[in-house]
Amino acid sequence: MMSKILNWIDLRYPLTSTWEQHLSKYYAPKNFNFWYYFGSLALLVLVIQIVTGIFLAMHFKPDAATAFASTEYIMRDVPWGWLVRYMHSTGASMFFIAIYLHMFRGLIYGSFKKPRELLWVIGMLIYVALMAEAFMGYLLPWGQMSYWGGQVIISLFGAIPAIGEPLALWIRGDFVIADATLNRFFAFHVIAIPLILVILVFVHIIALHKVGSNNPDGVNIKEHKDKNGVPLDGIPFHPYYTLKDIVGIGVFMMIFFAIVFFAPEMGGYFIEHANFIPANPMATPEHIAPLWYFTPFYAILRAVPDKFMGVVAMGAAIMILFALPWIDRGKVLSIRYRSVAYKVLIAIFVISFFVLGYLGMQPATATMTLIAQIASIAYFGFFIALFFISKNEKTGEVPKRVT
Ligand code: HEM
Repeated sequence: MMSKILNWIDLRYPLTSTWEQHLSKYYAPKNFNFWYYFGSLALLVLVIQIVTGIFLAMHFKPDAATAFASTEYIMRDVPWGWLVRYMHSTGASMFFIAIYLHMFRGLIYGSFKKPRELLWVIGMLIYVALMAEAFMGYLLPWGQMSYWGGQVIISLFGAIPAIGEPLALWIRGDFVIADATLNRFFAFHVIAIPLILVILVFVHIIALHKVGSNNPDGVNIKEHKDKNGVPLDGIPFHPYYTLKDIVGIGVFMMIFFAIVFFAPEMGGYFIEHANFIPANPMATPEHIAPLWYFTPFYAILRAVPDKFMGVVAMGAAIMILFALPWIDRGKVLSIRYRSVAYKVLIAIFVISFFVLGYLGMQPATATMTLIAQIASIAYFGFFIALFFISKNEKTGEVPKRVT
């Protein structure tokens, strides 16, 4: 009966062949490690965000007069509303944790290099879309930090010469953040950007399956195949990696729900304290800072004394990641077989990113600004130094097969 139904479908839709091509006969390197959990975890969080987001949208009112109250209504009166809302707010931060680890894996194993440059660029487009999604979502509960954070970021466009002010006005739809801004951000947050994200993730996977997965050794498993054309170092994605990913999902879910149930605000890191106060356009909070996942870039912005140049530096800090496949000219992919100089550079990059992330949350005193300037130089210095050292890098011996 089942095979008859399947046969009927297969004659009309490529179900079995898609399953085979992308799962049961997609051969992935057999040496995937811890770092390879985060792609499937990012996918999981995307689904969590969409599902909880749909339920939030059923009760939320995108209106400056009622947005804050409707959020409180979800928290207090809607059955399980608190759970849905905290899953969504925690999900936002967990999304960025998963993405940053996912990107870092790509960085250390050279997964952005030939033939995966386009895969990396698509990933970067996802990252930028995700930032826009998070930024617009944060305005919706209409708390003090939603309002003033939005005000600060949109006013940055005003720093662009000539067109800046009209542009900021056009984005807000008013002279300050107002009802019009809330309405358009809602439209972008619930449909436009999620749609773009889902499409980009689909394209991301298609691109990955065209070139095949990289691995912690950075060796090409397609170079050694058996007589049936199956890579000797490959194993079918299903059932091996579907099972492995379920283990990752289990651990992730425990951490995720521990936060949702016991520390949903995460001491102000996942939801800022000021956001439990309704937006007040007449009172600026003493200290305005974005959520943690934006603070490295926010610190770079504030490190530059000139506002417009600060905006340029912040934009460049993100854009330079798009160019990584062409900045790193080394032939060896994995950090395991690269030079000490390369490993030192990676360490500098990670430290500068964390330092900037911390500084972006602190008030900008003279000392903090100085440290932020040094860390910003280190951040950009990584890319510049990488461009030069990678050309004639003295690397270790790369094995022929995965270890
Ligand atoms: C919603 C966001 C994203 C989702 C759902 C996602 C999903 C995935 C999945 C399922 C894989 C295969 C499994 C794995 O290698 O972990 C993968 C691979 C990859 N992703 Fe993403 N990804 C996302 C964002 C990004 C971003 C922001 C980048 C980089 C800028 C990126 C770069 C890559 C690269 C280079 C690979 C291949 C890695 C390798 O084979 O070693 N992805 N992605």
